[in-house]
Amino acid sequence: MASHFVLNTGAKIPSVGLGTWQAAPGVVGDAVLTAVKAGYRHIDCASIYQNEKEIGASLQKLFDDGVVKREDLFITSKLWCSDHAPEDVPQALDKTLEDLRLDYVDSYLIHWPFRVKKGTKISPENFVNPDIPATWGAMEKLYDSGKARAIGVSNFSSKKLEDLLSVARVPPAVIQVECHPVWQQEKLHALCQSKGVHLTAYSPLGSPGNSSWMKNNDILERQIIVSLAEKLGKTPAQVVLRWGIQSGHSVLPKSTNEGRIKQNLDLFNWCIPDDLFAEFSKIEQARFLRAEFIIGPQSIYKTVEDLWDGEI
Ligand code: A2P
Repeated sequence: MASHFVLNTGAKIPSVGLGTWQAAPGVVGDAVLTAVKAGYRHIDCASIYQNEKEIGASLQKLFDDGVVKREDLFITSKLWCSDHAPEDVPQALDKTLEDLRLDYVDSYLIHWPFRVKKGTKISPENFVNPDIPATWGAMEKLYDSGKARAIGVSNFSSKKLEDLLSVARVPPAVIQVECHPVWQQEKLHALCQSKGVHLTAYSPLGSPGNSSWMKNNDILERQIIVSLAEKLGKTPAQVVLRWGIQSGHSVLPKSTNEGRIKQNLDLFNWCIPDDLFAEFSKIEQARFLRAEFIIGPQSIYKTVEDLWDGEI
């Protein structure tokens, strides 16, 4: 298993990246330093995580100290939902680049397929119908400019990805979605494979401890995972992450703990043999992040089924 996958742009995306969602300010900067020193080469960011400035300071330190060069890293960021208007898209990326202290990102993604008025928060009175083809047109210009070396989407269903593929001049290189053994995204995986779109998994461990956004997300404690981990002599987290890369997608485990950051990268000199890999197909499926916060009568998505086009 290689330590990277190849995008439809020809660029390499590392198989494992550091997730930074809900990595607290004051802590995330050290996590980035630790991760890169441990060998991580992909950092997954987003303007809405409100920690890009701190991450930027750590990146600068890593470059100044000669730990890595810019071209050795793969940095992802995401366009927030209040910046979908085509004229706002370049400014949003410029702000992210300023905060991250970079000239370009390796991948820039539309964070969600919904939109709120510029400068507003998610709230029913702020919803505006998204116009993904128009927003994508602005993303394509960023790709043309070289400020985003790959463009893609996040939290899109298979149908929304197909709709985008049917109008895109520059096809998306990456789709980042919730993906783990309890939400394996089989349909989306097959679509991605047939269209040459790379799938990246967020919450690849099921985001244990994140009870405010997700329910029953105790993947690492489930009997099937614990027993596979015992058989393989690995931790449950390693088994779950290795399942991900062996399934053909990159994974973005979030941790701010040095031991766990290192553990989550130790995935390459062993594998899950076929007979044990087959066990994963028996796991009952459930989407954890259903995103009820963007569902309602004033939203374009009236039900959870609408948002995910039935993939729930
Ligand atoms: P911490 O930051 O204290 O390590 P996900 O990437 O699926 O969103 O999961 C992130 C959560 O999983 C965080 O709460 C993180 O806590 C925890 N975590 C990260 N790595 C491991 C690991 N190897 N074992 C157990 N929990 C982990």
